[in-house]
Amino acid sequence: MRDDTLAWMNELTAEMEERRKRVHRGGGEARTARQHAAGKLTARERLDALLDPGSFVELGTFVEARDPELNAPGEGVVTGYGTVDGRTVFVFAQDFTVLGGSLGKMHAAKIVRVMDQAVRVGAPIVGLNDSAGARIQEGVDALSGYGEVFARNAIYSGVVPQISAVLGPCAGGAVYSPALTDFVLMARDSAYMFITGPEVIKSVTKEDVTFAELGGAEVHARRSGVAHLVEDDDRAVLARVRELLGYLPSSARERPPARATRDPVDRRVPEAAARVHPDPRRPYPMREVIKTIVDDGRFLEIQPDFARNIVIGFAHVGGRAVGIVANDPSHLAGTLTIDASDKAARFVRTCDAFHVPVVTFVDVTGFLPGVAQEHAGIIRHGAKMLYAYAEATVPKVTVIVRKSYGGAYLAMSSQDLGADVVLAWPTAAVAVMGADGAANVLHKKQIESSPDPAATRARLVEAYRREHDHPFRAAARGYVDDVIDPADTRRHVARHLAMLEGKTVERPYRKHGNVPL
Ligand code: HXC
Repeated sequence: MRDDTLAWMNELTAEMEERRKRVHRGGGEARTARQHAAGKLTARERLDALLDPGSFVELGTFVEARDPELNAPGEGVVTGYGTVDGRTVFVFAQDFTVLGGSLGKMHAAKIVRVMDQAVRVGAPIVGLNDSAGARIQEGVDALSGYGEVFARNAIYSGVVPQISAVLGPCAGGAVYSPALTDFVLMARDSAYMFITGPEVIKSVTKEDVTFAELGGAEVHARRSGVAHLVEDDDRAVLARVRELLGYLPSSARERPPARATRDPVDRRVPEAAARVHPDPRRPYPMREVIKTIVDDGRFLEIQPDFARNIVIGFAHVGGRAVGIVANDPSHLAGTLTIDASDKAARFVRTCDAFHVPVVTFVDVTGFLPGVAQEHAGIIRHGAKMLYAYAEATVPKVTVIVRKSYGGAYLAMSSQDLGADVVLAWPTAAVAVMGADGAANVLHKKQIESSPDPAATRARLVEAYRREHDHPFRAAARGYVDDVIDPADTRRHVARHLAMLEGKTVERPYRKHGNVPL
């Protein structure tokens, strides 16, 4: 190469590096220090924590804000791809040190670019959110940018997994991007999400509320159900995102990865039944029962603090990823409520979208009775569960542990709603309702007119129990495929999942179903 060409090339390369450094510095030292003082990592530190070491490849480094007057290195968002456990993942990380991570049109364009790329190659999208929302200076252009992102969140739903980590502010309409994704994870003290902030609320409704009380991680984990998981800090959230990805395929065109285990697939689990209280009215820890059955006792519970009467989460059985749904009799007696129905239905649909078989553990007396539940639409919400289970084409294995009554029996992955295999423990009771209720309805007059109503009632309840409160009536009619020794549950579930590996289902033509929302 000629000397003058070489000099010219070196000069340009030096300028390129200088520009790159400027972008990498983000909002500068003072703002970075402020970010750290708030217990938060910077966008680039977060990407390093999320991705396999050295795997991050940046795209759109030199993209600039539309308004050249704005000082916005990197346009306030770092985008690209990398790997998690060796699998490609597309990422964007909003940089709060640059104009508060606010979203302008080109900031959105960078996000949209990696979203489109992710779908082209069939890889998950992980968004790290830390933003003051729409960039005020850009006006409607900023809103348009959000629109472009939201549209892709919706259209790519079920195409590739989309995971949102909320690690700072996420306010106004901006919350709808995470809300449209499959999973929302929040950092305990630094993240908040709300549509309208405390000041606006105060002026409109006179309610006085702090950021944390209104939209902090705890509120979204316990009350609103917006957050699927809450972790103590950025690093813990990002470690969870990595773990979560391990249960999911890269796209709907693939199956979830298998996880090697030394846990014998035919391991007997006598401790499973030992955890179940023999008195059907007494609670017991369903989560502990699940842990005895799955590989290595590893169960990643999702939304653990929301609608605790139902348990959902991921595990592996015999190396296969499974989604687990279970009633928890220690909360509201394990009944199905509005929130529980929403939680389970959404989870079943997530599993179905990504080929994760669903294993359901049943101990349920019914939908929670009450005016509040009826008036708030338990019919509409409960219908989601029926719909989700019926619609799901993934392998579905059900284990009836104890009670399974009425509409809830159907809703909790019954054969008629499409379960592939229904197993019952000998402790199971499958009936229209519990013995007490049934005796009252069927024998009201006889009980009231008897000389000793209490004794008559007790006798009739016992008679009903003998006739209905066991799994064999349902098994005799074929609604239960097998009654099993609880200690063999792991072996049975694993065997059925292996058998169902090649399951295919044809559905009648439709544009799309109309899930009750
Ligand atoms: C442009 C913004 C900004 C915004 C903050 N900044 N919000 N720049 N557009 N929306 C800038 C600040 O000027 C500041 O710049 C830097 O970001 C950090 O902001 P601070 O206020 O210093 O940070 P902090 O004290 O931590 O407070 C964070 C905050 C606050 C609570 C998020 O900044 C805030 O309330 N911002 C406004 C939030 C908002 O109303 N957003 C619009 C929501 S509506 P310097 O140069 O000083 O570092 C929305 C609609 C979306 O998003 C609709 C989608 C359909």
